Amino acid sequence: MPAMNLAPTAGPPARVLSGMRPTGALHLGNYHGALRNWVALQNHYEGYFFIADWHALTTDYENPGQLQKHVHEMVVDWLGAGLDPHKSAIFVQSHVPAHAELHLLLSMITPLSWLERVPTYKDQQAQLKEKDLATYGFLGYPLLQSADILIYRPRYVPVGEDQVAHVEITREIARRFNRIYGRDEAFPRLVKTALKKLDAEPRELYNADRHRYQEAGNPELLQKARELVAAAHRLNDEERELLLANLEGEHHRLLPAPEVLLTPTPKVPGLDGRKMSKSYGNTIRLTEEPEAISRKIRGMATDPARVRRTDPGDPEKCPVWDLHKLYSSDETLAWVRQGCTTAGIGCLDCKQPLIDKISAESSAMRERAAPYRDNPARVREILAAGAQRANVAAEATMDVVRKAMHLSAEQGQA
Ligand code: TRP
Ligand code: SF4
Repeated sequence: MPAMNLAPTAGPPARVLSGMRPTGALHLGNYHGALRNWVALQNHYEGYFFIADWHALTTDYENPGQLQKHVHEMVVDWLGAGLDPHKSAIFVQSHVPAHAELHLLLSMITPLSWLERVPTYKDQQAQLKEKDLATYGFLGYPLLQSADILIYRPRYVPVGEDQVAHVEITREIARRFNRIYGRDEAFPRLVKTALKKLDAEPRELYNADRHRYQEAGNPELLQKARELVAAAHRLNDEERELLLANLEGEHHRLLPAPEVLLTPTPKVPGLDGRKMSKSYGNTIRLTEEPEAISRKIRGMATDPARVRRTDPGDPEKCPVWDLHKLYSSDETLAWVRQGCTTAGIGCLDCKQPLIDKISAESSAMRERAAPYRDNPARVREILAAGAQRANVAAEATMDVVRKAMHLSAEQGQA
């Protein structure tokens, strides 16, 4: 798994794709765990970011009443945080019906046991006991996610640790699809021709790295060889794809297996010191008003040993410190550490720079979100444009998939 800040290599910009279930207005935990990273990635990659409204129905099928409201609020927050519809395709899953078609087609080749084995399947059923999740749709959750991903042929899927298993099964499904439908006798010859377009030195390195990677499975070698391919300007897109497929020992990459781009998920504490989460009611919204931010943080839990102003504290035992680590400069951090452990500052003193910083950030986001908040028509336009771009990319993959599965009428009766 590459680290998050992987510099993009030469060649056409790779795609990244990620999605979120529509939970309504976002909080700081959602921001630091995912959105902030997307905003950074959109400058280096061709981004596809979508709202997984169908996925919301896999667990909340009985109460869909808030769905449209949640979609609107979430898109507004994405835009407020700086996700840019001119750079990335921002869209809603159900506006690209081909996700459902690919889900169906992939279901033909997906062993039930693969789905039953995904850890979230049993975990979530146990956690959400009040809901009946013994449904076909819920079992298929990771497969729908695989379709969401594979349909855009992205290089990377930026997600947090909790989604890694879903990207893993996506990779397995891609490989299974390629094995079943991708037999292509011309492959070795095509690879040879493409390799001739490389200079002698990169060609030898490519062969050596490929060989060693296939023996030892070392991901750095794979990455090095990929960079060589990306930097080879004489290759066209198809040849580049071919050489990438060849690296991983596949004979044809109808559906390239994407990689996780692991988002470092910092600890974002809620007001009560537990993890920030909507279900705990301990959140600070991304676009919270300054007065509310001030009130909430002033009331936030601190090191329980610091009862009186004169008691020294230990930042490591204080959730406010975790927020400082996300927002404050080294200088402020040093001031907190010194002041807390010597009782030189009080907790309200300590919290003030944090209040200022978070308020400034949320004000900027609120301002950027303002033109959209009360203008659902404008948001719909953005989503329509995003869906249009997404549909073009999705249809290109579906052509390949339909042909591979002999669903294309042009294929006649051969
Ligand atoms: N399952 C993801 C989550 O709960 C949301 C999601 C749906 C997703 N499809 C995706 C994430 C495709 C990445 C790629 O957060
Ligand atoms: Fe926490 Fe700051 Fe109070 Fe120390 S001074 S206990 S770090 S809020």
